[in-house]
Amino acid sequence: MTTPQFIQLYQHNAAAVAQELLQGLSAPQAFTSPKYLYDALGSRLFEAITELPEYDLTRTEAKLMQLHSADMAQHLPPGACWVDLGAGNCEKAGRLLSPMAAGRYVAVDISVDFVRQALESLQRQHPGLHMAGLGTDFSGGLDLPEALDLDPTQPRVLFYPGSSIGNFTPGQAIGFLQSLHQACGTATNSGLLIGVDLLKDPAELEAAYDDALGVTAAFDLNLLLHINRLVGSDFAVRDWQHLSRFNAQASRVEMHLQARCALRVQWPGGERLFAAGETIHTENACKWTVPHFEALLRSAGFASTRVWTDPDKRFAVVWALA
Ligand code: AVJ
Repeated sequence: MTTPQFIQLYQHNAAAVAQELLQGLSAPQAFTSPKYLYDALGSRLFEAITELPEYDLTRTEAKLMQLHSADMAQHLPPGACWVDLGAGNCEKAGRLLSPMAAGRYVAVDISVDFVRQALESLQRQHPGLHMAGLGTDFSGGLDLPEALDLDPTQPRVLFYPGSSIGNFTPGQAIGFLQSLHQACGTATNSGLLIGVDLLKDPAELEAAYDDALGVTAAFDLNLLLHINRLVGSDFAVRDWQHLSRFNAQASRVEMHLQARCALRVQWPGGERLFAAGETIHTENACKWTVPHFEALLRSAGFASTRVWTDPDKRFAVVWALA
């Protein structure tokens, strides 16, 4: 049996992280990057979110992939190198490797430690498949290192499920998708298989990000505990409440944490006063229509697209040929 290769590129830099966070927290409209939602507890809370009745995104995507896997196999190149972006437990891609006749698998996440176990168990299910784990922060664009020793003649399938693309504003999304287009390389039939949550009734969208059980509120509020650990601040969770708002102009759900009263937050070397009702903008979840998303892919350099969607057009899985 082959064993997976592991490459860790991203090096955590505590000072840089603290500086980035404090810059956002000090801005007139305070904001933080959504990547800080995912500490150990945050990742578990996100998994719980995917099981909520109000949040059908993950289930709808899984159903689409299952229902259309035979058709997808007709459009995607066999024997391809699958590059799984934000692989985590490698579950979504793991289900596709056999039906799509993958020829190689690269699990990408910020830390190889997040994918190590899943990759080792996937390797036991696919003993002959060449697998690698790559630890890199691809939020600013994807760079596939030389060390992976990718075959330039093997087609690549870049796999970006879960509508994670929604975290980017349209302007950021173009730059990010351009880097994915570049990472598709030069072999023919390479492309991007991407999941996108579609624009739907605002009330439903707001509920998906503010569920009755309060799991999403806990997920959002947990960010404050994570920030306290990263920058040494003294956020008190009870002083804040979670908000989910649909911004129609920007076609996105925004998550905010709102100060319940006027308060002061301190950290080593600084502080910020928040007025009652003032917010920290913690996440954007952009929602697309199919034609708008296809136009975005084209402006990032992708050629033709093939789209699979459910009858209610809640979610789309798109294959975009490089
Ligand atoms: C993982 C970014 C796709 O925006 O739907 C879920 C994260 N935030 N509930 C999303 C999330 C609150 C999720 N993504």
